[in-house]
Amino acid sequence: MSHEGDLYDDRHIAFLERLWGEGYLSPGGRDEIARTLAGLDLSGKTVVDIGCGAGGVTVELARSFGAGRVIGLDVEEPVCAAARRRVAKAGLADRVEIRKVEPGPLPLPDASVDMVFSKDSIVHIHDKDFLAREAFRVLRPGGWFAASDWLISHDGEPTPAMKTYLAAEDLDFGMASPDRYRKALAGAGFVDVEMENRNPFFRVAMREDLARLEGPERAEFDKLLSPPEIDRQIRTWKTMIPVLDSGEHCPHLFRARKPG
Ligand SMILES: C[S@@+](CC[C@H](N)C(=O)[O-])C[C@H]1O[C@@H](n2cnc3c(N)ncnc32)[C@H](O)[C@@H]1O
Repeated sequence: MSHEGDLYDDRHIAFLERLWGEGYLSPGGRDEIARTLAGLDLSGKTVVDIGCGAGGVTVELARSFGAGRVIGLDVEEPVCAAARRRVAKAGLADRVEIRKVEPGPLPLPDASVDMVFSKDSIVHIHDKDFLAREAFRVLRPGGWFAASDWLISHDGEPTPAMKTYLAAEDLDFGMASPDRYRKALAGAGFVDVEMENRNPFFRVAMREDLARLEGPERAEFDKLLSPPEIDRQIRTWKTMIPVLDSGEHCPHLFRARKPG
C-alpha cells in the first residue's frame, strides 16, 4: 500500500458521512443494503460484515434487518472507533461487535456464521479466490455470501481513462471483473451465484454527488477537509463519471450460497 496511515481517517469519515449519510462510507444507504439482501431472511442470524467502516451498515443489519448478532470487521482504527460509537449510540452493544483485524484470514472459526456480508469494501481485498475460500470456510452449510463491491468490466489492461480514475482515487483498489468473481465463488464451492450490475445507479448517484460538491454545499465540504482536498475529490469524481459511462467501472451486487 502506498499510503502511510489510515485511508479512512476521521476527516475523511466526516466528509463521506456528509455525502452519503451518517455512518456510511459508501453510497446508497439502507436501500442498497435492502437490495443486496432482497429475499434473504436475517432474523436471529449471525452475520459478519467485512469492512464495516463507520458502522452505519453494521448497525442497520441488526436494527432493521433483524440479524441476531453482527460482527463488524475492519482493518483501520478510526473507522472501528466510529463504528463502536455508533453501535453504543444505537443501544446495540449486546448484539453488535466491532473488531479491528489484520488483513488476511477471517478471524472466525469454520462454519460459525449464517451470512458473510460486505458493502463496497472487498475492493480492498485483491485476492478474490482467497476471499471466496475464507467466506466459504466461515459459513455454515446453507449460508449466504451477499455483498456489493466495485468491479471492473474485464480482466485485461485497464483503459487509460480507468487508469486515470484509479490513480485519482488512490485507495489501493483491487478491482475484479464479474467473471473473476464468478470463478472465485464457484472455485470455493459456492452455488446459486447471482450478480446484478449497479452501474446505472452509480452513474446517477455520482453525478448527484458531483453537483453537491460543486454547488452551494461546497463551503460545508471545505470545512470538513480543505478547499484543495475538495478540489482533489472533485477531480476524482470527474475521472470516475467517464468510466461509469463507458461501463468499465461497474459496481455489482452479488450473492452465493454454501451448499447444505
Ligand atoms: C468504502 S469503505 C465501506 C465501509 C462500509 N462497508 C460502508 O459501506 O459504509 C471500505 C472499508 O473497507 C475497509 N477495509 C480495507 N481493507 C480491508 C480488509 N482487508 N479487510 C476488511 N476491511 C477492509 C476500510 O478500512 C474501509 O473501512
